[in-house]
Amino acid sequence: MLRVLGIESSCDETGVAIFSSRDGLLAHALHSQVVTHREFGGVVPELASRDHVKHIVHLVDEVLAKAGMHKTDIDAIAYTAGPGLVGALLVGSSFAKSLSFALNIPALGVHHLEAHLLAAKLDAPELEFPFTALLVSGGHTQLIEARGLGNYHLLGETLDDAVGEAFDKTAKLMGLSYPGGPLLAKLADAADAQDCAEVPAFPRPMLNRPGFDFSFSGLKTHAMMVWRRSPQDDQSRASIAKAFQDAVVETLITKCMRALEHTGSQRLVVAGGVGANRALRAALSTEMKACGRQVYFPRPEYCTDNGAMVAYTGCLHLLEDRKQHDSDHAIQVRARWPLMRE
Ligand code: KG4
Ligand code: ZN
Repeated sequence: MLRVLGIESSCDETGVAIFSSRDGLLAHALHSQVVTHREFGGVVPELASRDHVKHIVHLVDEVLAKAGMHKTDIDAIAYTAGPGLVGALLVGSSFAKSLSFALNIPALGVHHLEAHLLAAKLDAPELEFPFTALLVSGGHTQLIEARGLGNYHLLGETLDDAVGEAFDKTAKLMGLSYPGGPLLAKLADAADAQDCAEVPAFPRPMLNRPGFDFSFSGLKTHAMMVWRRSPQDDQSRASIAKAFQDAVVETLITKCMRALEHTGSQRLVVAGGVGANRALRAALSTEMKACGRQVYFPRPEYCTDNGAMVAYTGCLHLLEDRKQHDSDHAIQVRARWPLMRE
């Protein structure tokens, strides 16, 4: 049995968890920095690093207490080594490396995007490779063919804004507070339920082009033009939110279907923060059911950044190859780090 402590600190969430290869997830805890960054309208890297420093120690104590474990019961430590904000990554990696040195146990740097991709397996251990994955976060929008652990092939990606970024920027231009993505989604859902006055449908970017790439910056610009011409009240904000979300959801689903046809896969895995979007989850579930395929979503709290996915991913790698952990005490993180080997 392997009990792995997982540490996530790539951006604005400090996530800590303990995963056991025998008993599954034993405990997890999260500190979100939303309040720290709200007044600046976005993540301030230096403040993010400082906040990780403030919270990492008590979160580790908290998960140990929840799991009924002592530090010396941990067998290995997995930490996010990139991609992400360098200062923020350094907090988690320095902590992980120091603790592993003190306890004389292995430490393993985990790829943040791989951890997102595997988060759905936390609640669905029966989910096996290969599968096709839609990774939709604040920094990435990719369609990926997951062939095996550590073996990922990029099918397509956004040529400009990530979908989460487009959600956040559209929310901001209509005066919603940070982080705008979930707030915009809430407005769109409410507009759906209340049958809000409609604005003309937004374009579905890149659907008329072959392949699996995306483009979302035009949608954000389109939203800005419509917003400027509108009365800029609650009603128009909700209608634009709905038109924006409808366009995003339909575009993502069409490209997912294309990718599944291409790979021949029967399984679609959704990962990343935007995977928490209710409309996307509902529409993809309906679409996948209609074509007899299966779709896997992590539960919403494992869609956004968290320590559970890092502990789990580290555990899978260590089980596959117990010697592959960091062999020295050098602290190395990578702000940019492609997931694909090719
Ligand atoms: O994966 P994540 O927590 O962090 C990154 O690695 O980027 O994703 C955060 C992104 C943000 O852009 C946030 O606005 C978006 O996910 N997001 C949502 C929802 N919840 C989070 N976007 C749309 N609908 C949501 N419900
Ligand atoms: Zn993330």
